[in-house]
Amino acid sequence: MDFMLWAVRTMHLFSIVLWLGGLLYQTVILHPLLGTGGIERTPEVLQQLKSFLPFIWMSLATLLVTGVGLMLFSTRFLILEYPDWWSVALGLKQVVFLIISFVSFGSARMLTRAISSFDGSGWSEQGARFSMRVVHLNRTNVFLGIGAVLLAASMR
Ligand code: HEM
Repeated sequence: MDFMLWAVRTMHLFSIVLWLGGLLYQTVILHPLLGTGGIERTPEVLQQLKSFLPFIWMSLATLLVTGVGLMLFSTRFLILEYPDWWSVALGLKQVVFLIISFVSFGSARMLTRAISSFDGSGWSEQGARFSMRVVHLNRTNVFLGIGAVLLAASMR
């Protein structure tokens, strides 16, 4: 049982590192290239963002499954009862996770639209708008993710 708990907790942490680390890489390295409007603003940058999508879905799914596992393993968990900060923080983290999932779906949709609106010669105004939306949605998720990590840290 102790080993199971350790394994699930390790997977939980690993998926956070993969997901948030990937998003931070995109935000710091790739997004500025989209914002310049110069020759760097090519569909290749968007394709790179797209190639990270399977990692996003995989780490969010692992985060959810391992989070539910940790929750059910925990002796502190009570269904729909919030007697202490641990339970409140867990509830808030779940809400944040839901918002993160919606924002990720939105960002993936915008990314697909941005890629398909590139006509080979350049960006349409609409395509540029879609790609900027991807930047904003991903940035929102970085802040939400940091908020979720802070909530998790307060559960100790
Ligand atoms: C963005 C989403 C999430 C982040 C960033 C996150 C982060 C963390 C972190 C950093 C820990 C501490 C691990 C440790 O040191 O033991 C943790 C523990 C935990 N997480 Fe998550 N988590 C997320 C989503 C979820 C979800 C969706 C659930 C439940 C459905 C969940 C349930 C738990 C539980 C029960 C623990 C154990 C707390 C304890 O042992 O006191 N997490 N999480």
